[in-house]
Amino acid sequence: MSLTTYDVIRDAYDLVFANTHEKVPYVADILRKHHVKSALELGSGSGLFTIPLKQAGFDIEGLELSQEMIAFMAKKNAKLTIHHGNIQNYQLNKQFDAILMVSSILVLLDSHAAIAESLRCSYEHLVPKGILLLELPNHPVEIRASNHTQETHVSDDNATIVVIQSHATAKFWREHWYIFRQEDKTFSQETTICDELLYSPQTLQSQLHDNGFEIIGTYGDLFGKPFDENNSWRRVWLCQKK
Ligand SMILES: C[S@@+](CC[C@H](N)C(=O)[O-])C[C@H]1O[C@@H](n2cnc3c(N)ncnc32)[C@H](O)[C@@H]1O
Repeated sequence: MSLTTYDVIRDAYDLVFANTHEKVPYVADILRKHHVKSALELGSGSGLFTIPLKQAGFDIEGLELSQEMIAFMAKKNAKLTIHHGNIQNYQLNKQFDAILMVSSILVLLDSHAAIAESLRCSYEHLVPKGILLLELPNHPVEIRASNHTQETHVSDDNATIVVIQSHATAKFWREHWYIFRQEDKTFSQETTICDELLYSPQTLQSQLHDNGFEIIGTYGDLFGKPFDENNSWRRVWLCQKK
């Protein structure tokens, strides 16, 4: 088995995205508004959405590529069903009221062709009128603000230090992660690259339409702010299976 990007990141993900819990209430509200009971999170990672949504009463499962992330999440004792698989071509033989694709997961796929496959799969896994929640980057804004910048994240006990350096290539918004860990008296250092496809919103919009989805809401983040093409960091599309 080849190592995935997130096999290397594992626990460092929670350090870097420590404020994810703040976005959960809005997601839960959207799901409740659409009478969602069962849900599937694609790329469920360390469970930063899946676990609190389960605790909020949703019958939620996850799908995750990285065995290390699945193992890290299992340590949280959340008693969740997490399927090991690829969002590009999964087959769970069941349908859900909603599918969540948050934290840019859809553009971790490396082409629009792969995205189309994932949308086709997701259509099959949704009940009629089911909800697909997409949280995507709005790359031009992010690139304008942070191309060729670096950021650091340090755990309270200094045991984990993460440096992330970001820049745009012709095809990807690329982050180099340098992760320094200290466990007992041992030091380790791992590096990995996270690539987000510089997707075309117009192409993705047509792909959603062609794969049987209607966009029923557009927001600028997962707090419900309106979307502003020139200033929003995120593009959130609430879609419904036609
Ligand atoms: C950016 S993290 C988001 C985790 C979680 N959704 C959250 O918001 O906290 C992306 C997760 O998706 C997983 N992932 C990436 N590509 C995937 C794929 N093709 N199929 C399934 N999971 C994937 C990664 O291993 C990682 O755990």
